[in-house]
Amino acid sequence: MADSRKSSPKVAVITGASSGIGAATAQMLAAQGYAVWLGARRLDRLQEVAKSCDGRALVLDVTDSASVAAFAGQLPAGVDVLVNNAGGALGLESIAAMDEAHWLEMFQSNVLGLARVTRALYPRLLAAPSGVGHVVNIGSVAGHETYPGGGGYTACKHAVRALTETMRLEWLGQPLRVTEIDPGLADTEFSLVRFAGDAGRAAQVYAGMTPLTATDIADAILWAVTRPAHVNIDEIIIKPRDQARVDKVFRRP
Ligand SMILES: NC(=O)c1ccc[n+]([C@@H]2O[C@H](COP(=O)([O-])OP(=O)(O)OC[C@H]3O[C@@H](n4cnc5c(N)ncnc54)[C@H](OP(=O)(O)O)[C@@H]3O)[C@@H](O)[C@H]2O)c1
Repeated sequence: MADSRKSSPKVAVITGASSGIGAATAQMLAAQGYAVWLGARRLDRLQEVAKSCDGRALVLDVTDSASVAAFAGQLPAGVDVLVNNAGGALGLESIAAMDEAHWLEMFQSNVLGLARVTRALYPRLLAAPSGVGHVVNIGSVAGHETYPGGGGYTACKHAVRALTETMRLEWLGQPLRVTEIDPGLADTEFSLVRFAGDAGRAAQVYAGMTPLTATDIADAILWAVTRPAHVNIDEIIIKPRDQARVDKVFRRP
């Protein structure tokens, strides 16, 4: 009898797929034959992305346990790949001028949200049609370095690294893989969100340098998830050639 697991498309779930890295990942995985299930808060934007890759758009707020449960409940019983991508930075205040609302929101989405979604999908990942589930956490170079004004965001992304490593320890011996992808400067809506819609300030982040694109990151995610099942890519740090450290960027006049 034919093994039906081999013939059915692999299932990928991507959080924060309404823009940037999540949208590019959805499109790239779909182009490789994955059935893609997308989550984000802005359903109109998400539906546009879903249309472009024959995916399914489901509203998701990772800061809300009920929303995560409702999202998970609509997914197929088996999930091969979960890309925990939803998140971002808010503000650039020093610790002495900490904006509590910003910090709470960042920890809610980047850290707790990632853990919530992983917990909700864990049984589905264990039932991956391919036989091995794969969690890809989107961290950042901010999980390896710090910078003035980045206290809240860098603390969140350092926490993501701790969660990634903990998953790998807790799941040792189970049919699960865990990868973290840590981008440097990538031109998405990240800075626009960080600076509350101030397009001029967001543009300054990438002024005079060539940033990564969302597709560059999606490409790394695709590579990690398409390695043979016995291989676990632990971590990939990707920076633009114009960036040596998080705050050390070469800018042309
Ligand atoms: N761009 C960079 O330079 C860079 C560098 C390193 C790491 N990263 C990380 O890469 C990831 C993706 O960011 P991006 O650069 O692609 O920025 P982006 O274009 O702003 O995308 C962020 C995505 O996260 C979603 N999101 C935010 N809060 C959410 C929530 N509570 N529930 C569900 N979805 C939520 C947004 O969708 P909705 O608003 O529709 O919910 C959006 O789809 C983030 O984790 C970010 O920290 C980015």
